Amino acid sequence: MRIAQLTDPHIVRDGELLHGYIDSGKRLRNAFSVIDNMKPRVDVILLTGDLVEQPDDAAYMALQDILNERQSPVFLIPGNHDDRSLMHAKFSSTGMYPCTKDRAQYDLDDYAVRLIALDSVWQGNELPEFDEDRADWLANTLSKQPNKPTLLFIHHPPFHTGIAFVDLAPSDWYRHLSRVISQHDQVKLVLCGHAHTTMSGQIAGVPVYVAPSSAFQLSGFLGVDEAPTLIDEAGPVTIHYWTGNQFVTSPYLPVQGAGQTRLDRIAGVSWDELKQAMKGDLA
Ligand SMILES: [Fe+2]
Repeated sequence: MRIAQLTDPHIVRDGELLHGYIDSGKRLRNAFSVIDNMKPRVDVILLTGDLVEQPDDAAYMALQDILNERQSPVFLIPGNHDDRSLMHAKFSSTGMYPCTKDRAQYDLDDYAVRLIALDSVWQGNELPEFDEDRADWLANTLSKQPNKPTLLFIHHPPFHTGIAFVDLAPSDWYRHLSRVISQHDQVKLVLCGHAHTTMSGQIAGVPVYVAPSSAFQLSGFLGVDEAPTLIDEAGPVTIHYWTGNQFVTSPYLPVQGAGQTRLDRIAGVSWDELKQAMKGDLA
């Protein structure tokens, strides 16, 4: 199973630019185009929050226009720039955000790995929240299928990152999440965004992967308390590949020039011959 992750697209209204100079809509379209051209096609695309820069009807309409063109199933969660009520109004009937008006969490059972969307938004500020009610829902949902490998996706990274603006919340904000994960060993991976950089960590011994933004990056020298600097660069699409017993994560870099620099072509042999040569005496 292949999962493509995109995060923090920060879409703005049609005709506007993010911060006056970043075409975040074009960058998200480019990222989806990379995904559409993958062979084989990914099973699912997860968009892990900060879908828009300012949550209003027009921004979500611009996002919806982009999402409507998609060829693979897409699922959404809110980030601190989003409004859960507006997202529910816009997307709950599309299948991309299958949650209720009162709860921005849901589970997806149609794949080899169970996917569970979590809500870390504390409406009104940028900090994360994961209270007992959200944790109880997660514990109950996990208990229904204890033997199926499961992936959680949540906007804020639930670990101490060493990046000052990510660590602004009290470090125990994820204690309920950590407790639930520690009691359910089918959880294999947690996906996040928010940091606008690539990072990995752990919660309750489970790997956490933080994907880069499709719109722009933020500098974050680990362990240094300074304001982040905006870097005008789109991050690559991230692929999470389920091998059957674990996840392997890698950025996806599309091939340029029709593969003329493929190593078998450079060597002037077939791929099978090159593999034989690589194996040497073991061939
Ligand atoms: Fe963001």
